[in-house]
Parts: sequence; C-alpha cells; structure tokens
Amino acid sequence: MVKTPKGDLRDAKATRTIDAEGGYVMPGGVDGHVHLQEPPLFGKGSSADNYETGSRSAVCGGTTCMVSFAPQKKSEDTLLDTLRATYERARDNCYIDYSFHLLVGNPSERALSEFKTLREEGITSLKIYMTYEALKLNDGQILDVLLEARKQKITTMVHAENGEVIDWMTKQLEKRKLYAPKYHGTSHPPVAETEATYRAIQLSDFMDSPILIVHVSTPEAAAHIRSAQSRGIPIYAETCPQYLFLTRSDLDKPGFEGAKCVCSPPPRESEADCDVIWDGLSNGTFTILSSDHCPFRYNDNVNGKQTCVTDEYPVGHFKYIPNGIAGIETRLSLALGADRLDVKKFVELTSTNPAKLYGLHPLKGALVEGQSDADINIWYPPEKMQEFQLKNEMLHHNVDYTPFEGRTMKQWPRYTLLRGKVVWDRDNGGLLGEKGYGKFIKREASSLAKPRHEGEWGIFEDGSFGFS
Ligand code: URP
Ligand code: ZN
Ligand code: ZN
Ligand code: ZN
Repeated sequence: MVKTPKGDLRDAKATRTIDAEGGYVMPGGVDGHVHLQEPPLFGKGSSADNYETGSRSAVCGGTTCMVSFAPQKKSEDTLLDTLRATYERARDNCYIDYSFHLLVGNPSERALSEFKTLREEGITSLKIYMTYEALKLNDGQILDVLLEARKQKITTMVHAENGEVIDWMTKQLEKRKLYAPKYHGTSHPPVAETEATYRAIQLSDFMDSPILIVHVSTPEAAAHIRSAQSRGIPIYAETCPQYLFLTRSDLDKPGFEGAKCVCSPPPRESEADCDVIWDGLSNGTFTILSSDHCPFRYNDNVNGKQTCVTDEYPVGHFKYIPNGIAGIETRLSLALGADRLDVKKFVELTSTNPAKLYGLHPLKGALVEGQSDADINIWYPPEKMQEFQLKNEMLHHNVDYTPFEGRTMKQWPRYTLLRGKVVWDRDNGGLLGEKGYGKFIKREASSLAKPRHEGEWGIFEDGSFGFS
C-alpha cells in the first residue's frame, strides 16, 4: 500500500464547501500512458508538450496523476541516468502528481542490474517496444527484461507491433510511390499487431512475468488477450480514445491533413472495430483506458509549416510523420460523454485500475478516508452541463490541433481537486492550479499484476525448466 502522507483530512478544517448539486463525484483521473519532453524516437520531431504544458493540459481535463516515460535510447547503457534526467525535467514544473515508467531501449547487463535500484526508487513499471528502429528489442532481449522484471516485481508494458512487417509494408508502399498520411495505416496492418500481441503473451507466459499490452487497437489482438486471461495468464491490456473514436477515414484526408491522426497502432478500418474495443472495456478485457498523449505540432517548423512536406514529398511521407497524438485533456470527457460505459466501470478504467496496476492505490484512484489523497473530480449534474463542439483553442496543451476537433462534448469536469486544493473550476477562473504543486510519487509494486508461481525461473540438470 502506498503510504498516506502525514496530516490527512481528519486534521484539516474545511475552508470551503462545494455543492456537487447531484453531479458525479469521483477520484481524479490517473493517466498511465503519457509522453512528455521526449527526444525524436517515433519519426521526425520532438514532443510538443513539456512537463509544464502537458500536466497543465491534464489537470484542465480532470487528470490529477500521470505516469510518463523516462526514455532510454539504444545508445545508452544505463537506466539510472535516464531516470535522473527525466526527474529534473519534471521537478517543479508539474501541475499534477507524477511518476515515471522506464522506457527500456537497451537492456544491457548494466541496465538489467539497475532494475533493483529502480524498484527501490519507487519505479515499478517499464515499457519495451517490438517495433521502431530506435527502440525495438528482439525476443531474447524481451525475455531478459521479463525475467529480471519478474524478480524485482516490476510490471512490463509492451508495445506489440511486429516491426519487420511494418518495414516490409513501408517498402512495398514506397515502391508504388504511395506516400500520403493515410498510408501510415496501410503500413501498420492489423496482422503486425495481432502477431506481436500473441508473441508477447507467449513470452510473458513462458517467464510467468506479468505484462500490460499498451494501446490495443484490433479485435484480433483483443481476442488473444481475452483468451490468455481466461487461461489465468497475468495479461493486462490498455486501450485509448483514438481506438474508440477514430477510424481509417480520419487518416484519409486531403493533402497532409491526415497527419493529425497518425499514431501507432493506427486508427483501424471502421466503426465496427471501435465497437469491439468498446465491448472490451465493458467486459474486462481492458484493464485501463489511457491517453497515450504523445503530442507533435502540425505546423512544426520555424516557418510555421510542416517539416514532412517537401518538394520531393508534397503531401509528406507517412514514414517521417512522428507517431502520436495529443489527448491527455480530452480522455475523461470523451469516454464519459460517449455514454457507453457504466459510470463505475468508467472510474475503474480511468482512475482506480491504473492506480492499482502501477502501485499508486489507494493513495490515488480511490477516495478512502485516511488513505487516499483528496484528488477529486466533480462533474456537472445533467441539467447544468451544456454540450459543446470541441475546438483546439479550448485546450491547454502546446499543440496546434486536436484530432478530436469538432466533436460534440457532452461532459467536462466542473471542478477538479488535487490533494484538497481546487485546481480547476471551469466556471470560475478555469485553471487555478499552480506549476510546481504536482509532486513525484514513489510507487509500490502493482497490486494487480502478479506472477502465478512462487520461486525463481531456472533450467535444471535433468533438462527441465521452470520455477524452483
Ligand atoms: O503513436 C504512438 N503511440 N506514439 C507514442 C509512442 C508509443 O509507442 O506509445
Ligand atoms: Zn507504444
Ligand atoms: Zn505511447
Ligand atoms: Zn509507423
């Protein structure tokens, strides 16, 4: 259990009473998948949001705690330097509470030996990639990570796409001179995700090391996950609003416009795919709903034009478009406003489960007297919420577009509190929180993701292998 800081609510005197007037009151949002201030890893371009602007955007959409990435590059040997550098970027800059997942780009012997220290420093999760030249691990490296992560009670997040399939498809498209943003979708076919998901599940099962498959987008991948879960294998899964609301048609826009919806995995074929992902949220296949906030500017170069658009590639070249979209501020409102999730399920997916999965519960993701921080979202009662069309200018990130432009928003948090302080009051001042109020949280091991067996994995003289 994450310890509650001294001086809890029972010692405090209320300075203000807020009448929720019948609106939902729930724990603040916990976003378990956020990229801020990262170097170019996913195409041409660096993150548009730093810790200040990204966490500002978060709090204005009701998210009070985030876990972002400390990215280790392939060329780096150590994880601890990466962690320190990321901590320095975040320190004194955040509007909300935060922690980091280590993004392991090079599981060197040294890096693996540092898992123990990570754990002691309250870093209890990491992410690995099966694609992207800059980050891709081979299956042996994945086993190295899974084995050591299991030993140290660290949860491994997996980006499951088969990089070789993507590279092969990219070459096929280039041969045919097909470069527009929509071909990003073609270059990341469902089979790349489905195959890698199945492989990740098998490797996880082999090591009995729990994993969370991030940003799941295909019905086939969801089916593999569900089947593994039904066999008792500790497989957890995440999806994101982009796989609930966007489809191929959002990529298929004239000129470079489709670049606004380029992410990996890409938005899938049709609404029927989105429906299956919605079903997976309701039926428990997905443990968490995160934003995968990974923002880049559309007009990203010094002239306010697009870096990817050149004389050679007048509509850009899909392979250079940085993968990722902004969504930390819209995650909660889009999901609740769609009216497709039971409200308790909504809280579980967007707050309680991410807190449990990443060792933050019950400090976060709950409202338990004496145990939880007073991180609270208060929503409008139905008669007071006026729906509106989303415009990017309403948002608080440092991005010049939102992929959800023009959507009808039926919900938005009315008040948000972080550790008892009103940090968002939509009708009276909007953002009231302050940069630097957000603090680093030392996390415990996951209270959800646990191995099935006791003991350590080994190979024995009689030729058998498994757990001692
Ligand atoms: O397109 C995406 N998802 N960009 C962010 C990087 C990642 O793999 O999560
Ligand atoms: Zn990813
Ligand atoms: Zn991501
Ligand atoms: Zn790509």
